[in-house]
Amino acid sequence: MKVLVAGYGNVGKAFVKLIFEKKGKLEELKDIEIGGIVNRKGIMVGYKDQFTVDIEGDVFTAYEKIKPDIVVDTMSANYKDGNPSLSLYKLALKDGTSVITTNKAPLALAFNEIMGLVGKGRLGFQGTVMSGTPSINLLRILPGSEVKRIRGILNGTTNFILTMMYNGQPFESALKEAQRLGYAEEDPTLDINGFDAAAKLTILVNFAMKKSVTIRDIKFTGIQGIKGAYDGHKKVKLIAYADENEIEVSPKVLTPEDPLYHIDGVENALEIMTDIQTTIIRGPGAGPINAAYGAFSDLILLKRNFI
Ligand SMILES: NC(=O)c1ccc[n+]([C@@H]2O[C@H](COP(=O)([O-])OP(=O)(O)OC[C@H]3O[C@@H](n4cnc5c(N)ncnc54)[C@H](OP(=O)(O)O)[C@@H]3O)[C@@H](O)[C@H]2O)c1
Repeated sequence: MKVLVAGYGNVGKAFVKLIFEKKGKLEELKDIEIGGIVNRKGIMVGYKDQFTVDIEGDVFTAYEKIKPDIVVDTMSANYKDGNPSLSLYKLALKDGTSVITTNKAPLALAFNEIMGLVGKGRLGFQGTVMSGTPSINLLRILPGSEVKRIRGILNGTTNFILTMMYNGQPFESALKEAQRLGYAEEDPTLDINGFDAAAKLTILVNFAMKKSVTIRDIKFTGIQGIKGAYDGHKKVKLIAYADENEIEVSPKVLTPEDPLYHIDGVENALEIMTDIQTTIIRGPGAGPINAAYGAFSDLILLKRNFI
């Protein structure tokens, strides 16, 4: 089975490395081969784990040349129109080729359109929400229950900043520290203003609550302007929230009785309340190896016909 890896940055590289590291150890990887890799500079094909032969062309040329069974998208997010990822998914799924992605943008913009094309070609997207910490794939193993409410801390950058602020640092220096440690982008706008968490919430509510919403329908408020003075033991957290009536990302004041109160630093958490029970999961929400594992776990589950 040939895999085309689209995007070869932090996550793409970690994904390819993981495949070669785990090959030989896992039955599911026996017939998996990296057929090619494509980035903005061109197409790389190669032999074993050496990808050096550069061919000119974009993702669509790569798709035509390599004829993959599975496309793994680790390209940068384009929230304007989702492309080239969105067009690539449509092309692949219509052909019966499976898609695995860590890129949130196409799903946050057109979840139901993409899902409507899933058939022989499957769709794995664990890496889009909480990276390698099962969120999407956790929902896959709660069959038959009805999700009534979702609450989560879905952005590590803002949670890190809020934790530093709780410990007494002003916003600006907490942000600088997050950038120094590589938790925040040079332009952290989409994290700070709540957009990134809103994109993840969009994907979750479409998948778990059978809603038909896009990122454009979600109300989000970020942590800019938060003063950082906390009253006693209370903490401010950026909470992604959805129930029957409301879908929103906004800062909330939490008390120690709330499980999300205890999620500090870059950690993420998700609370899923169904008609049967409440399940909470916590773990790293970002990092190249973690995001790559999100895609890798989808690949294994796909090979087991679970996705
Ligand atoms: N890093 C994380 O912790 C994390 C966690 C969860 C999800 N994600 C998501 O995973 C994706 C990849 O993240 P990353 O950190 O690996 O980003 P990155 O290091 O910036 O890599 C992005 C890759 O996408 C390629 N690319 C962009 N536009 C392209 C196009 N039109 N055609 C072909 N290739 C294109 C870039 O090509 P060039 O190399 O030629 O520039 C680069 O190889 C993003 O969507 C991100 O939101 C990341």
